[in-house]
Amino acid sequence: MSDQIILFDTTLRDGEQALSASLSVKEKVQIALALERMGIDIIEAGFPVSSPGDFDSVRQIAATIKNSRVCALSRAVQGDIDAAAQALNSAEQFRIHTFISTSDIHVQSKLKRDFGQVLEMATGAIRYARQFTDDVEFSCEDAGRTPIDNLCRMVEQAIKAGARTVNIPDTVGYTTPSEFGGIITNLFERVPNIDQAVISVHCHDDLGLSVANSIAALEAGARQVEGTINGIGERAGNAALEEIIMILKTRRDRFDFQCRAEPKEIYRTSQTISALCNMPIQSNKAIVGANAFSHSSGIHQDGVLKSQNTYEIMTPESIGLVRNTLNLTSRSGRHVIKHRMAELGYREGDFDLDVLYQRFLELADKKGQVFDYDMEALLFFENQRDDQ
Ligand code: KIV
Ligand code: ZN
Repeated sequence: MSDQIILFDTTLRDGEQALSASLSVKEKVQIALALERMGIDIIEAGFPVSSPGDFDSVRQIAATIKNSRVCALSRAVQGDIDAAAQALNSAEQFRIHTFISTSDIHVQSKLKRDFGQVLEMATGAIRYARQFTDDVEFSCEDAGRTPIDNLCRMVEQAIKAGARTVNIPDTVGYTTPSEFGGIITNLFERVPNIDQAVISVHCHDDLGLSVANSIAALEAGARQVEGTINGIGERAGNAALEEIIMILKTRRDRFDFQCRAEPKEIYRTSQTISALCNMPIQSNKAIVGANAFSHSSGIHQDGVLKSQNTYEIMTPESIGLVRNTLNLTSRSGRHVIKHRMAELGYREGDFDLDVLYQRFLELADKKGQVFDYDMEALLFFENQRDDQ
């Protein structure tokens, strides 16, 4: 089994669904270009039948992107598939993604059908989409809550009908890692033709487990993972792709997975998407939050100055940041103050470290974080005091 992991980004489809204001076509193309530059394998550009604006943006992205495969979503109905095929037809490489719900609650309460009818709709849609391309992905919506016998039946029939990728979404973020990994293991054990398709996973974050569930699924044999940058998406969002990429890169000791993404593009892409989507990133967000590479405790700061890997499991440079930050607070030691003054261009003879450190502590106790301009002001006032 290949250990190459296919990265499927749905920031422009599942992510965009969650925004309070929609993105313009130009902004969507800008995001697609950033994802292409980052080395994302498949960019889900939108849901063309949903609105003329979405159709147009998928069309423009399909015409612009050359090094990633462009994908469009469709329900399991011919009109949606026609719209997806039409919007994608100028792309160099494209995929049609069609889906239908498979859980009892969705089949009965939302679709008001029985499972046999849903199975027919799914296979009919896959066969129809195959007229336009060999690359058809089928998703079993709410797979996380689908009885395993039904899920096995659906996956087997979807592959027979021509799906080259079968996606197993945890649509409502309900499962736990061992449970979700178990679903994937079960599929590999019970679906006879499973080796004829790539098994994909698409996890939502309602219980904060989307990334953990995705990794458990990869360990169980899934080879495509879907997510969004910064984890934006319906409700609590989707699995954050930047976290998955950095898990794959940082824990090579644990898994032998490869992916095409260039991690150095992560920070810039995350900032671009946050700004265009008007979605601020929480400061303690893994990988891309403002505090992800900043150290506040004096003990940690001292450790990092001696050797970065004492408190950093990956370097800031690896995600495209220039460097880490050491926050100056009342927990910072003299070593850090001396280091910061040197960075600001001062030499040892320019100040008395004992006095400056005392003044710094008094200020830090009053205001919390002390900034470079505060240090310069403290030094200025100390020098003035000496002159009097
Ligand atoms: O969460 C989900 O099930 C989806 C499907 C359309 C893949 O977004
Ligand atoms: Zn989703």
